[in-house]
Amino acid sequence: MNISEPLGLLGGLSPQLFMKRHWQKKPLLIRQALPGFKPLLSRPELFSLAGLDDVQSRLVTRSGAKVAWKLQNGPFSRKALPGLKTPQWTLLVQSVDLKVAAVQALRDQFRFVPDARLDDVMISYASDGGGVGPHFDSYDVFLLQAQGQRRWRIGKPKNLKLRDDVPLKILSRFEPEQEWVLEPGDMLYLPPRYAHDGVAVGGDCMTYSIGFRAPKTSELAHELLARLAEAALDDASERLYQDPYQHAVQQPAEIPSGMLSFARQVLSHAMSQALNSDQELSRCLGEYLTEPSAHAWFGVQESQQAVLKPKAWRLHPRTKMLYDSHHVFINGESFRASGRDAALVKQLADARWLSAQQFLKLSPQAKGLLLDWSDADWIQTCRK
Ligand code: SIN
Ligand code: CO
Repeated sequence: MNISEPLGLLGGLSPQLFMKRHWQKKPLLIRQALPGFKPLLSRPELFSLAGLDDVQSRLVTRSGAKVAWKLQNGPFSRKALPGLKTPQWTLLVQSVDLKVAAVQALRDQFRFVPDARLDDVMISYASDGGGVGPHFDSYDVFLLQAQGQRRWRIGKPKNLKLRDDVPLKILSRFEPEQEWVLEPGDMLYLPPRYAHDGVAVGGDCMTYSIGFRAPKTSELAHELLARLAEAALDDASERLYQDPYQHAVQQPAEIPSGMLSFARQVLSHAMSQALNSDQELSRCLGEYLTEPSAHAWFGVQESQQAVLKPKAWRLHPRTKMLYDSHHVFINGESFRASGRDAALVKQLADARWLSAQQFLKLSPQAKGLLLDWSDADWIQTCRK
């Protein structure tokens, strides 16, 4: 993708300009971002995804004059969903990009944003008046109207307080500043924490949310500390607390102060070992960022080890693959590569595809690694 060329998807802005002016900063409405857009899956197909165990789905319904909200978690059989003519309900289906190749291809049009930020594509179906109420998300999101119409009202929230009388995250006070009705092919970008309320106009409304996660400090710290500790404690973990100078005690329940010092020593040793090595931290970060999501599963493939004929390779849609200057990460595992192998494997990560000719240029070790990934179904052979 040429990131300095104007893109219809971004209303004529280049990805470079979009990132500079709007990303994490201000909303952008793009009329006909995808002209003539047709839904990538039908309503029955979406409903049947909501019936699967390995797909996360939610049903939000509103009823009564006092706007009572109800939230239910899937899976849902078709019978469990309200009738199409019943107003004010919406079905939200997460990670459709992992199930439907065309939705993955749509998601790939947004790869001017680093993969490490990508979360998923959620698809919502709403009957007339359906929506999830005024709220804000902690994610950057592109809201693409796929079918029917949706009225969006948005505003910068002055107060992020949420209602405590409903099972959904709904703002106590919502003061919209702008309002539009989006038609199929229109798209709205919203930065994190921008208040918005989308209500279906006339039913049969489908909206695709291309969402980008941003790691939260607490979550990142938790994940990294656990991984760093595991690695750092490998060599020192057998060392025992020693107290040859412990004197006899009158208060046996009191924790000896020496034990606190030992705990401090253990932690500072582990942390300094981990943090003094940049590569250790980058390894943990990459492994964490490529950890497969709870719903991602891969089928075990018949061994490809014997097949040494040239082939082209494509990453499995669910495979997460990233790299940094020292490592290549795939589905929570890290590998070190250098020279031509590193260049080719990084190409596989960027393009999510490697040609037969490129495969043949890999060293025998790297070829072996790709064949192992293929056995694990992380990469697949393809004809093109
Ligand atoms: C929806 O598609 O109904 C909700 C999307 C959002 O507000 O984030
Ligand atoms: Co939202």
